[in-house]
Order: sequence, then C-alpha cells, then structure tokens
Amino acid sequence: MGRLQGKVALISGTGGGQGRAAALRFAAEGAIVVGCDISGEGQSETINLVRAAGGTMTGPNEGFDIATGAGAQAWIDAAIADHGRIDILYNNASAAKFAPIERMTDEEWYFTLRNELDIVFFPTRAAWPHLTRPGGVIINVGSTAGHAGSPGAGTLAHNATKGAVIAMTRQLALEGAPLGIRAVSLSPGFIRTPGTAPFLENPDIRARLVARIPLGRPGEPEEIVAAALFIASDEASFLTGTDILVDGGSLAI
Ligand SMILES: NC(=O)c1ccc[n+]([C@@H]2O[C@H](COP(=O)([O-])OP(=O)(O)OC[C@H]3O[C@@H](n4cnc5c(N)ncnc54)[C@H](O)[C@@H]3O)[C@@H](O)[C@H]2O)c1
Repeated sequence: MGRLQGKVALISGTGGGQGRAAALRFAAEGAIVVGCDISGEGQSETINLVRAAGGTMTGPNEGFDIATGAGAQAWIDAAIADHGRIDILYNNASAAKFAPIERMTDEEWYFTLRNELDIVFFPTRAAWPHLTRPGGVIINVGSTAGHAGSPGAGTLAHNATKGAVIAMTRQLALEGAPLGIRAVSLSPGFIRTPGTAPFLENPDIRARLVARIPLGRPGEPEEIVAAALFIASDEASFLTGTDILVDGGSLAI
C-alpha cells in the first residue's frame, strides 16, 4: 500500500519541474493523479511517464490555463466527472515576471499576480466544496521569496504574490478546520528545474546563488515533493495553517 493509496490528487503545473516530479511520486504512492499545464506538450509527456511507471494519471492533454475562474472550474469539474471525489489539491503551477520596480510594466505586474496568486485562488475556490470532509488537503506552493527579499534580483511582484500565498494559506486553514480541510504552504528555496537551469549553467550566477545556501547546492524537485507527500498523507493529520520551508537552510542565514 502506498502512502496516498486510492486518494485523488489534483496537481497543477504537471508539465515540468516540481509538478512532474510530484505527479510521478504521488502516483507511485498509489494516488490517482489529475494534472494540468498551460504547456500541453509537457503535460502529455508527464502523463506518458506516469503511465509507463505503472501509475494512474488523467487531465487535459492540451494546454490548459487554470488562472481564471472558468478554467479552474472546468479542471475541477472534469476531475469530479472522472473520479467522483478530490482528496488533495496541490497548487504548484506558477509563472512570474522579474524586473526592478521602476522598470516593471503594468503587464508584468498583472501577469505575475494572475499566474502566481489567481492560479491558487481559483482552483481552491472550485475544489473547496469537494474537499470539505476529513482528509481534504490543500498544499499551496509559496517560496522563500514570500519570507525574504533577493538583493538586486527584481523579484518585487514575486515577493508580493508568494507572501500572499502563504498568508492566504493560513486563512484557508482557519476556514477549513471546522470542515475537515487542512491547508499548508510549502516554500522551496532555490530548486534545479528546467526554468532555473540556465542560471546554474552560468558559473558566476551559480556561485552567487549557492553562496546563499548553507547546504552548498540547489535543491532537487524530488526533495520538495518529499515534503509535499508528507503534508498530503494522513501522517500529517495534525498539520495545518503553517508554512514548511525546504530551502537548504537559506533563511537561516
Ligand atoms: N524552482 C525554484 O527554484 C522555485 C523556488 C521557490 C518556489 N518555486 C515554486 O515552485 C512551484 C513549481 O515551480 P517549478 O520550479 O517546478 O517551475 P516550472 O516553471 O518548471 O513549473 C511551473 C509549471 O506551471 C505551469 N503553468 C504556469 N502558468 C500556468 C497556468 N496559467 N495554467 C496552468 N499551468 C501553468 C508552467 O507551464 C510550468 O510547467 C511554483 O509555484 C514556483 O513558484 C520554485
């Protein structure tokens, strides 16, 4: 028996990075995974990888945007039509624009709010009625950027959205507790994914990034997913309303 045996786990952003690692691990632990990604190609690859490993995964094969009320509702409705229930909602997907305040355009600001904050709110609102029973879990991916700034990195909008995700999770936990729902945010530090790989390929940037990580290396997607698996499992039955930092010690500096 896997640690998530028979649970229906909705994971956003399964087209790559941490979302793909989550789909593979959750399915290996017995979950029925429902993914989605704005990249249809990445999502199809993940579905194939999960199935090739013997797991169960459904979700739209084409690019699917869940940062709108209608898109999120359609994703949740399809999951209910296919599987009849939702046990876990793992709000992993995001996309951000980076620029210092004086150069950040209206479009970049609103793009980041939409794809880092709306993308958590809308699926959560749509899934909420299906999660209201003992065992319902919401995992929201925050970031160390929700706790601390990054000198010279132009992360202002990203700091704002990730701080909001962490704050929103606390309130979800309070509103969910009487209904049986747990809500926890999970804040990664610097993780090696296809999106961050170019920074790591540049020796100067890599050295600067790694200097701020006491464990001396970036994290791997699987190391974030290991924490998500615990949060999603029944072993975490007393865990809610908090943020779990998985950052190689970055915020201890
Ligand atoms: N990689 C890091 O260093 C790091 C650090 C801290 C936090 N995080 C957070 O971890 C989470 C996973 O990020 P990742 O590192 O795997 O990055 P990633 O870019 O590889 O994955 C994010 C996925 O979300 C998808 N997506 C974006 N907008 C979407 C939309 N509107 N609808 C559907 N799908 C959409 C993307 O296509 C992508 O596949 C994100 O919330 C990110 O902010 C990452």
